Amino acid sequence: MNRKYRRAVIAANWKMNKTPSETRDFCTALRSMLPRSRWCDIILCMPAIDIPSGMRVLKDTRVAIGAENIHEKASGALTGEIAGNMLADAGVKYVIVGHSERREMGESDTRVAAKLRAVLDNGMNPILCVGESLEQRELGVTEEWIAMQLKIALSVVKPEELKKVVIAYEPIWAIGTGKTATPEQAQEVCEFVRSVVRKLYGARPARSVPVLYGGSMNEKNAFDLLAKPDIDGGLIGGASLDPEKFMQIVHAANQNND
Ligand code: 13P
Repeated sequence: MNRKYRRAVIAANWKMNKTPSETRDFCTALRSMLPRSRWCDIILCMPAIDIPSGMRVLKDTRVAIGAENIHEKASGALTGEIAGNMLADAGVKYVIVGHSERREMGESDTRVAAKLRAVLDNGMNPILCVGESLEQRELGVTEEWIAMQLKIALSVVKPEELKKVVIAYEPIWAIGTGKTATPEQAQEVCEFVRSVVRKLYGARPARSVPVLYGGSMNEKNAFDLLAKPDIDGGLIGGASLDPEKFMQIVHAANQNND
């Protein structure tokens, strides 16, 4: 992390876990553990049905609630989908777009861009996920792949909107596998992500955009990952389901504040 230029962000992605009652219990526990001093941004991205429970418990704290998905259209005959204005009206501040688990369900880069646009159009902040598969890494095309994902998604983001965007580098081979990227591997790609942003928007925006790492990040490896200069935080799946473990990652981010 480089706290001089950008904020640290620790974000949970619960995926398809936790009921509304479990959300209330998690948020109540988290609330009692929140640090009083200066700390990083904390975001809890949760299933849409859990959002009101999370919001009720955490409404007057500095913890932001995020959603895991959005539909790109504003409204219409789209059974089961959720529009941006619904999320924004519920108090959601962040929305994950481009997660590999949703890309796996058929979301293309252009659809990710349309969703990212919908997040911005509704006054929220996108957390844009990019990442390569093991096969792509072994073929040596990680950078080309990530550059393409970034260029297509960011094609809809005007320079003045970039400050709303958080980028998460999540190598697919590290997600839910317990196989974390080494701090060096994660740093290398996060630095590359920043270099792509620099080419697209210039030096100053690239210096301020938060780039997170995600993929089996936990309370044990967080400190070393977050010590790297271009890793500004984490997007955490499994280890975010337990309030104690999640808070330990927040503390790791707060210690790494040079
Ligand atoms: P895990 O932390 O469970 O590997 O999940 C990472 C992730 O996909 C966060 O979006």
